Amino acid sequence: MNLDDLSRDLETLAEETASALAGASDVAAVEALELDVLGKKGRLTGVLRGIGALPADDRPKVGAIANRVRATIEAAVAERRTILGSAELDARLRAETIDVTMPGRPIRRGSLHPSIESMAEIARIFAQFGFVTYETPEIETDEYNFQDLNIPQDHPARDLWDTLYVDIPGRLLRTHTSPGQIHVMRTVKPPIRAILPGRCFRYEAIDASHGTEFFQVEGLMIDEGTTLGDLRGLLDEFAHAMFGAGKKTRFRPGYYPFTEPSVAFDVECLVCGGPGCPACGRSGWMTILGAGMVHPVVLRNCGLDPERYQGFAFGMGPERIAMLRHRINDIRLFLENDLRFLGQFR
Ligand code: DAH
Repeated sequence: MNLDDLSRDLETLAEETASALAGASDVAAVEALELDVLGKKGRLTGVLRGIGALPADDRPKVGAIANRVRATIEAAVAERRTILGSAELDARLRAETIDVTMPGRPIRRGSLHPSIESMAEIARIFAQFGFVTYETPEIETDEYNFQDLNIPQDHPARDLWDTLYVDIPGRLLRTHTSPGQIHVMRTVKPPIRAILPGRCFRYEAIDASHGTEFFQVEGLMIDEGTTLGDLRGLLDEFAHAMFGAGKKTRFRPGYYPFTEPSVAFDVECLVCGGPGCPACGRSGWMTILGAGMVHPVVLRNCGLDPERYQGFAFGMGPERIAMLRHRINDIRLFLENDLRFLGQFR
């Protein structure tokens, strides 16, 4: 190996590379060629390995030629890459043209289910009075759903809640959200202001106002010196926010084992506004929830001293509230998932 041979090999490499580049038809081929010639283990390195055998005087000369050849090849590669690259881009742009004048595909917009929307609105109103929303279990024990709420086994009041049992001994599907009160009173220290929305289940004959599956929203307030007047004031605020400012309201006596006294809370009929019509059974009033002062037995069951703490609780059906607000006449609509119904609550 001498200077002339090596120089010739370098020139040959440059020429061969130039013609191979001319024949490369895409960027990938150019890059493969670049790696093959200029890469770490490429042909240029291979040729230069011969340098070691040359006399020391000749080595810089070969180095100079090699640098020129490398620069030439690099420039040729870059040029070819640019040409082929822009040709490829052109082809892609031509293939992927988008006709921006075509009509778009409509986006199908969803909306909250009216039961959920109603619960969110209830929670939002009570949140303004400092009530915090908690989630409590759908599968309960007999203790939580009944006994701790002052409804002993075999007590006739159980007839109010036709119960669905599950295959686990001692467990049932909660018939109301009231057992949530027990969970909260056992885990949160007073003062308590809680809103407990959730699904409830009953073994009911289904009709326009009864379902076997429905939601309730429970409210609970426990503090020192809480009175029935506080309950009345709070529920008035709620009724006005939900159904309209200035709507008349009233308490009627009611019965629930877990409250004493117990009341039903009515709002003036939203259809006739008082005189009486078919929608309100000609009474002029619509009942929207049950409520009362938490029974001392229930407080004691949760480890609270009734001499120190008082409180009130209330429970309502968000579907019923939505039915009153939107004049919906059949509770079954809430479970049928008919888009013609659901689409009206955007
Ligand atoms: N749990 C009752 C029901 O399902 C509703 C209710 C009434 C809840 C009075 C309460 C209450 O918290 O105080 O019929």
